[in-house]
Amino acid sequence: MEFSRFSTHLHWLLLFLASRGWVSDAQTCNTSAFADSYRQLFETLGLGKNDTQTTYMRPLSPGKTYTPVFVDLYVNSIIEVFEKEQSLSTQVKMITLWESVKWNQNQFCQIQTIAAAKNSFWAPDLVIAESISTEFGGKESLNVQLIYFGYTLLSEILSLNTACKLDLYKFPFDTQSCNITLQSAAYSNIDLKIFMLHDTGVLTNSSKQSFQSQGEWELLNISTIKSKFSPWYSYTDQLIYQITIRRRPLLHVINIMLPVFSFLVLDVTSFFMDVDGADKLSFKVTLLLAISVLLLILNDTLPSTADKVPLIGIYCSVIFSFIGISILETIFVNFLKARGADSRSSASADVAEQDDGVSGPQVNQDRNQNRQCQTSLCWMRLARITDMLFFILYISSIAVFLTMIGRVWYVL
Ligand SMILES: *[C@@H]1O[C@H](CO)[C@@H](O)[C@H](O)[C@H]1NC(C)=O
Ligand SMILES: *[C@@H]1O[C@H](CO)[C@@H](O)[C@H](O)[C@H]1NC(C)=O
Ligand SMILES: *[C@@H]1O[C@H](CO)[C@@H](O)[C@H](O)[C@H]1NC(C)=O
Ligand SMILES: *[C@@H]1O[C@H](CO)[C@@H](O)[C@H](O)[C@H]1NC(C)=O
Ligand SMILES: *[C@@H]1O[C@H](CO)[C@@H](O)[C@H](O)[C@H]1NC(C)=O
Repeated sequence: MEFSRFSTHLHWLLLFLASRGWVSDAQTCNTSAFADSYRQLFETLGLGKNDTQTTYMRPLSPGKTYTPVFVDLYVNSIIEVFEKEQSLSTQVKMITLWESVKWNQNQFCQIQTIAAAKNSFWAPDLVIAESISTEFGGKESLNVQLIYFGYTLLSEILSLNTACKLDLYKFPFDTQSCNITLQSAAYSNIDLKIFMLHDTGVLTNSSKQSFQSQGEWELLNISTIKSKFSPWYSYTDQLIYQITIRRRPLLHVINIMLPVFSFLVLDVTSFFMDVDGADKLSFKVTLLLAISVLLLILNDTLPSTADKVPLIGIYCSVIFSFIGISILETIFVNFLKARGADSRSSASADVAEQDDGVSGPQVNQDRNQNRQCQTSLCWMRLARITDMLFFILYISSIAVFLTMIGRVWYVL
């Protein structure tokens, strides 16, 4: 029953806030009467006096022991996400509304809202649980707005830096969900209850509309969870805003993933290079060095969490190892070819020697030369076969690896 009364209240409130633009324009008094009413209203409400009731005491409305506080949180922009520090920097607009003094607008020249100094009023002491630092975006608002049917409205623009546990496993194709938890610093949930003013669909839609940055992050969703926690012996009301954001991956794809992939492609095509072994080797080592530069850049971005190694780390290091292995293979093939060349040159040296000497049977010499040449051919053939086999194995392992990691990246 209490709740239904609440929702009608809320309905009222929202209607009023929506129509405030034109309602407050309706003035029926002349200027002197208006000035009179304004002063009278101030005096009636006890503003400007050091009244304990309005300054320090929590307003109690009839029929309730607690003070309801309504909150709206709009995300204006996501300034930065710090992967290494695991925190999120945002600019939010927070609207807080709570019950307070009422007046009859007909007695006061249809004045529906007035602004008054914030420190002459009780205000809810809402804090953000994850806050690392909270600053006023621009300037702290000095005034609150009083509404004639008994509400006070405070609108603030805050620049927040909140802790957020980021899951970077799928970086740069990741979606993060960060919490902003509002709770009272001193009041338990017997004294103060926090409610949502607008529902989350409205919050999400208007946050998206007013979203001022077109940066790396895209706002997907704002949802809320009502909760309570127990710091000591009583419960405190909590309203958790869960902000879901998605990274635009293009920059990281262009900066890291594509270059690493193209180095791999270059490494594969170097199998068809028709140069001698040493040149090929230095080409491949250059590729390896280029990848390690990219790994350094990556190292600056990602934190060293022991949890799960991000996929992009696996991607880079596996490709790094692929190229490393292909360098080893090139060295091995070079070694085989060198053996072949050695055999051939020693064979021709033998022949040259035996040409000099006139003695010795011709047949034996020919057979010897033949065997030498065969060994040389043998080495060469072995080198070619190793190269071929390795190439096939290399291509297929690359294909298997890329499909596997691609599936994890996109499907999971
Ligand atoms: C303003 O209205 C009040 C009554 O509402 C009247 O007594 C007063 O004379 C008016 N003043 C002017 C300047 O019209
Ligand atoms: C209210 O109290 C504060 C400090 O307690 C004082 O500085 C201020 O002048 C007082 N205001 C009035 C209107 O009495
Ligand atoms: C946000 O709060 C909810 C509810 O307490 C919790 O389940 C979730 O893990 C929190 N998310 C983060 C990123 O801390
Ligand atoms: C939010 O916007 C979407 C699409 O723009 C619309 O379908 C949805 O009804 C809106 N929700 C609210 C609560 O306005
Ligand atoms: C937004 O969050 C709400 C509540 O968790 C959920 O029902 C809804 O499907 C989400 N919308 C999107 C687009 O993720």
